[in-house]
Amino acid sequence: MGLGFSQAVGDLSSHAGAPADLSTVEELQRHFARELHDQVAQPLIGLMLEIRSLRVEAGGDRDISAELTVLEESARQVLRQAREMMVDLRERNDLRINLIQALKNEIPVPSGHDLKLQVSTRWPRRVNGWAAYNLLRIAQQAAANGWRHGRAHRIDVILDVDANDQAVVVVLDDGAGIDDSPYGFGIMGMRERAVILGGTLGVRSRDAGGTRVEIHVPLDRIR
Ligand SMILES: Nc1ncnc2c1ncn2[C@@H]1O[C@H](COP(=O)(O)OP(=O)(O)O)[C@@H](O)[C@H]1O
Ligand SMILES: [Mg+2]
Repeated sequence: MGLGFSQAVGDLSSHAGAPADLSTVEELQRHFARELHDQVAQPLIGLMLEIRSLRVEAGGDRDISAELTVLEESARQVLRQAREMMVDLRERNDLRINLIQALKNEIPVPSGHDLKLQVSTRWPRRVNGWAAYNLLRIAQQAAANGWRHGRAHRIDVILDVDANDQAVVVVLDDGAGIDDSPYGFGIMGMRERAVILGGTLGVRSRDAGGTRVEIHVPLDRIR
C-alpha cells in the first residue's frame, strides 16, 4: 500500500506547532462529530457492504442469507444511531424532543413486562430539547439496567417537582435491588448527564425491593 499509517502520522506531526484548539465545548463536540463520522460511520458502511456481498454470494443458502440480512439490518441501525449522534453534537441547540412522548415510545419494554409513566401536574409543560434528550437517555439506561440486571417485571417512571423546586425524575424497578456502590459506565454516564444539567443522580435499593434511580435538576435548567 502506498499511503501507509506512519506516513499519515508523519504528516500530522509536521503541524505539531499548531494543535487543534479543543478548548471549548463546541470545538470538542465538533471534534467528536468528525471522529464519529470518520472512525465509526465510515467503517460501518464498509462492514455493511461486506455483509451485503456475502449475502449475494450465499445466494442459494436461505438460512445463511436470512442471518446475513439480520446482521445487515443491525449494522444499519447502529449507523442510524451514529448519524443521530452526529446531528446532536453539531446541532444541539436545535434538538426538539417531546420528553413525555419519547419516554412513552422510546424505552424498550420486553414482552410480558410493564412500564408505567406518571407525570405530576407540577411538571413543566415545556422542557428544552437538551434537557429532554439527557433525561430520556438517563431513563432509558435506568430501565435497561432494571430489566437486565434486576430482572424486573415492572418499571415506573415518575416526573415531579420536589419541595426545593427541583425537577425530579424517578425510575423504580421491582427487581433484585442493587449494591451499595455500583460501578459501571452506564451509571457513570447517567451521573454525568445529570451533572451536565446542573443536577444530581442517586441510585439505591428500595426498602420494598428493587432499585430506585433518582435525578434532581434545577427547574430553570430544564425549562
Ligand atoms: N436496576 C438494577 N438492578 C440491579 N443491579 C443493577 C441495576 N442497575 C445497575 N446494577 C448493577 O450495577 C452495575 C453497573 O451498572 P452500569 O453502570 O449500568 O453498567 P453495566 O450495565 O454496563 O454493567 C451493573 O453491572 C449491575 O451489577
Ligand atoms: Mg447498564
